[in-house]
Amino acid sequence: MQAQGKHLTTIWVKEVNNEIVQVIDQRHLPHHLVIEDLSTVQEVMTAIKEMHIRGAPLIGVAAAYGMYLAALQAPAHHPESYLEQAAAQLKATRPTAVNLQWAVDQQLAVMRQETSLAGKIKAAYQQAHRIREEDIANCRQIGLHGVSLLEKISLQKKGERVNILTHCNAGWLACVDFGTATSPIYTAFEKGLNVHVWVDETRPRNQGASLTAWELGQHGVPHTVIVDNAGGHLMQHGLVDVVIVGSDRTTARGDVANKIGTYLKALAARDNGIPFYVALPCSSFDWTIKDGLKEINIEEREASEVKYISGLTDEHDCKRVLITPPDSPASNYGFDVTPARLVNGLITEYGIYEAHETSLQGLKKKLPAG
Ligand code: MRU
Repeated sequence: MQAQGKHLTTIWVKEVNNEIVQVIDQRHLPHHLVIEDLSTVQEVMTAIKEMHIRGAPLIGVAAAYGMYLAALQAPAHHPESYLEQAAAQLKATRPTAVNLQWAVDQQLAVMRQETSLAGKIKAAYQQAHRIREEDIANCRQIGLHGVSLLEKISLQKKGERVNILTHCNAGWLACVDFGTATSPIYTAFEKGLNVHVWVDETRPRNQGASLTAWELGQHGVPHTVIVDNAGGHLMQHGLVDVVIVGSDRTTARGDVANKIGTYLKALAARDNGIPFYVALPCSSFDWTIKDGLKEINIEEREASEVKYISGLTDEHDCKRVLITPPDSPASNYGFDVTPARLVNGLITEYGIYEAHETSLQGLKKKLPAG
């Protein structure tokens, strides 16, 4: 999407040296746009774990390139055990986003088919490129399907402002381009619809305040940052027309794991009769599980993310400050699960599906591996 006057994506292979992968290091946004070079699989692991890059689809694409870099590093004799070990370590970096395991498994599968190391490297490179391109195309399709919901609301409101609430960052920064939850919004904006986005700040990492607000602003989309607890109040006063969020893992019956706090937005939306949609590529489905509450591993991150907050001082220095008593313990669950019954629909690259098993079986049949 447009940022700083040019078209940017989150991850690409360096033009002059295809053994280096470049990413936007999102820890510095919205204050600085920093590009990071990743030249080993270990650097990719650190980038995922420490959230230089984040968002389920982007984690998947980065992991695919990570396996390509692992192949470049693997010993010529018996590279298999090196690759299997790198795969296991990559998968362990973040447990909730299923795209990570999905991309690593795809890379292992193509590399297993090649006998020579050169063949494995080539296959991993080509597939990482394909996964990146497919993510762009899928997110675009999500926008084209999802925009119909916003057009309908706009029509009902006779062109008055359509207010969309979103949580965390399910924008292009979480993918390669377009985003998932934001893609219908960007499409609507391009079509001239009168849209406005309520951006949940999304404690503790503030992906909404730092990333979603930045990307919407860079693209010129009207938006307002709100504290995480404001959504219910806005809904009660008719100021939210629809909620659209992303997903890190969605089960075969439509239970949705997404950033912590998503469930509370879904509850408030249901209580106020506001439609709650989840936008996701099919790579974010985990078809092997049904019960999201019992079967999804929820990442727990360091307490320091809750206890400290970072930002820009008036002197333009980036500073990290303590906001709790030094000795107070803090817990930091990264995600929660919204049960399918609270989800009005799943916006995918194949269209909009109901969040229940029968409907999703129909979607599964459309996938290449069916
Ligand atoms: O911890 P993060 O920033 O990786 O969490 C991201 C989210 O929860 C997103 O909503 C999700 O990955 C969907 S991104 C299209």
